[in-house]
Amino acid sequence: MKGVILAGGLGSRLRPLTKVTNKHLLPIYDKPMIYYPIETLVRAGIKDIMIVTGGNSAGDFLRLLGNGREFGLKDIYYTYQEGEGGIADALKLCEHFAEGRRIVVVLGDNIVQDDIAPYVRAFEEQNSGARILLKKVPDPERFGVPELDGDRIVRIEEKPAAPKSTYAVTGIYMYDRRVFDFCRHLKPSERGELEITDVNNQYIKEGDLYYDVLDGWWTDAGQFESLFLANQLVARARGAEDYAGAASTKN
Ligand code: DAU
Repeated sequence: MKGVILAGGLGSRLRPLTKVTNKHLLPIYDKPMIYYPIETLVRAGIKDIMIVTGGNSAGDFLRLLGNGREFGLKDIYYTYQEGEGGIADALKLCEHFAEGRRIVVVLGDNIVQDDIAPYVRAFEEQNSGARILLKKVPDPERFGVPELDGDRIVRIEEKPAAPKSTYAVTGIYMYDRRVFDFCRHLKPSERGELEITDVNNQYIKEGDLYYDVLDGWWTDAGQFESLFLANQLVARARGAEDYAGAASTKN
């Protein structure tokens, strides 16, 4: 199984933090954001990894990560996405790298507590199709949201005003080789992007989309609030002291 990390786009929602640097190089507590999706894949036993970069400071990924020795990797593959054409547009750049094999895709701003290895194993046992990971969230309207009929997903809506469930589709996706055919036939959405939700809906149409629900915490880090939350979750997981709390009780 090969791994893909999508760290393209322009990070416009985090301006001015992303005016001169790349969103995925911003800190999440004690490490740059990009470390987390790499660790997610490596922990699941995936060592053949391509990173799609884009926007500002793309060269800094190489300076920071090199060949990935710090993560126990022999090398890392890099490619560059022009502009902000969407998640599926970034994924298209990985067809050659995938060589017709199955892939695990992680969005560069997704941080997950769980080891995803059991889900990857479940995907390996599927004959074909795709597998996604859901998480119950208080604000589903910010995400792709599945509509469930029993335990079957019948449709996914991207950032719906009236969400049909309280689950978010997280940015961890597992696909067979057909994903690149589906990406080729996509039309840009209203926000002008090739949407990964349209790819997942295509798998639903084919009756070949499966899912698991994450146990531990999960967040994206693409907005000020979620970036702050990601820092807090990781700090807490590392057993860091609550400095803000301590300071406010001292004053
Ligand atoms: O975090 C999970 C959510 O990610 C899903 O629930 C949504 O269905 C999915 O569309 C996506 O939503 P966002 O609108 O939050 O995605 P965003 O534009 O913030 O992009 C997330 C990551 O994807 C970003 O950190 C890098 C990568 N990306 C994004 C775009 C737009 C690219 O590599 N290229 C791109 O052009």
